[in-house]
Amino acid sequence: MIIAVDGTAASGKGTLAKALAAELGLAHLDTGALYRACGLTLMLEGADPSSVDEHAAEIAAKNLDFSLTKDARIRTAEAGEMASVVAAMPEVRAALLEGQRRFAYSVTPELKDGLRKGLRGAILDGRDIGTVVLPDADYKFFVDADVDIRAHRRWKELINHGSEAMLPAIMEDLVKRDERDRSRQHAPLKPADNAILVDTTEKSVEEMVRFALKAIGRQPLPGKS
Ligand code: CDP
Repeated sequence: MIIAVDGTAASGKGTLAKALAAELGLAHLDTGALYRACGLTLMLEGADPSSVDEHAAEIAAKNLDFSLTKDARIRTAEAGEMASVVAAMPEVRAALLEGQRRFAYSVTPELKDGLRKGLRGAILDGRDIGTVVLPDADYKFFVDADVDIRAHRRWKELINHGSEAMLPAIMEDLVKRDERDRSRQHAPLKPADNAILVDTTEKSVEEMVRFALKAIGRQPLPGKS
């Protein structure tokens, strides 16, 4: 089973993908972490989001150090901003595309290992999974919520991780990234034609997961969500 989850920034798509992976026995890939790791690489090289060199970005994506996807610094607003700048570059997207497909179709060591543990497929979350990366996915979700709710959730997340965060700055970051992600020429953020829309504005995590499971004809495992 292959599932694509796309959506706006801080909409809950990562949380949904993680929960569905646990419920359905799927390997999970947060593709935003790849773009963030690429952005962080350039930041560490001293690049500025307003003037990123496309060639340097392409090299960073082609030689991506995957350990950076686990680095806490990719979660900052600055790395998010840098991620959305490099994500608009076709060379960067092309460099990261094949690895995402390989992950989904089980060639990666992680998934082989997973298959031995009984995994039954993969779920990827991002912006263009249902439209570009995995157009043949069995199920596609598009997750969104009102921007003030999303900003508040991201603010709480950052505060809980001990970061300093200001609500107005977070809101501005989300609006700017969504606008850049939606209006770019290559792989823009938009629901796939056959995507199931999930509005999480008034849903708890539990309600969101139940809604998604019901939409694909599954029940939550007892005691899980
Ligand atoms: O967690 P959040 O929703 O804030 O963002 P993310 O999923 O970590 O993605 C960070 C940025 O990477 C996005 O703003 C997009 O510009 C870019 N991205 C993308 O273009 N395509 C993807 N498949 C995933 C992320």
